[in-house]
Amino acid sequence: TARADARLLAAHACGVGPDGLDGVSQAPAPPVLEEYVRRREEREPAELIVGHAWFMGQRFELAPGVFVPKPETQEIVEEAINRLSGLLSQGKTSPLVVDLCAGPGTMAVTIARRVPDARVYGIELSQVAAQAARRNARGTAACIVQGDACEAFPEFDGCADLVVTNPPYIPIGLRTSAPEVLNYDPPLALW
Ligand SMILES: C[S@@+](CC[C@H](N)C(=O)[O-])C[C@H]1O[C@@H](n2cnc3c(N)ncnc32)[C@H](O)[C@@H]1O
Repeated sequence: TARADARLLAAHACGVGPDGLDGVSQAPAPPVLEEYVRRREEREPAELIVGHAWFMGQRFELAPGVFVPKPETQEIVEEAINRLSGLLSQGKTSPLVVDLCAGPGTMAVTIARRVPDARVYGIELSQVAAQAARRNARGTAACIVQGDACEAFPEFDGCADLVVTNPPYIPIGLRTSAPEVLNYDPPLALW
């Protein structure tokens, strides 16, 4: 929403976290905020302007050419966490989770944080996205590999307890009309 974008840009300009704006609400806006607003007016995603996105309360570092995490991906992650909780409550130990097309690690890293007992592996074809995912996975047990999901992890054939994926999702031949997606998400992530 516009409000969420405005808060993200203002917080970054003021050098505070997403909940830190209240303490600076009476301060003059830092001049750099005007530059951020101009870029946002040109439909650059707020997350790329500030270089990070917030997803399920966690910060994900981004870079140009990396897919910006979308809020609806939370539904997949919540479903994955529910299923893993079910497996763990049935006595399963160290369930194996594979994330195909990991992007900046949105799903793999969140699952690894929320389900520390899981062994989580993500694969991502784009070098710049895989590098971002590795940075975002620091401090978690998630392992990010750069490679093609179509040939991923032969060593795990028949052993994965859960496979999650948010692959390129626009049918070839269809266009998307949102400039934030069309002009800034990499084509490899969309088609
Ligand atoms: C829609 S994005 C989703 C990223 C992340 N999973 C998320 O939900 O935020 C799809 C990702 O798949 C990657 N990708 C596309 N083809 C791939 C392939 N053959 N193997 C691995 N990754 C691939 C893209 O580079 C992109 O990062």
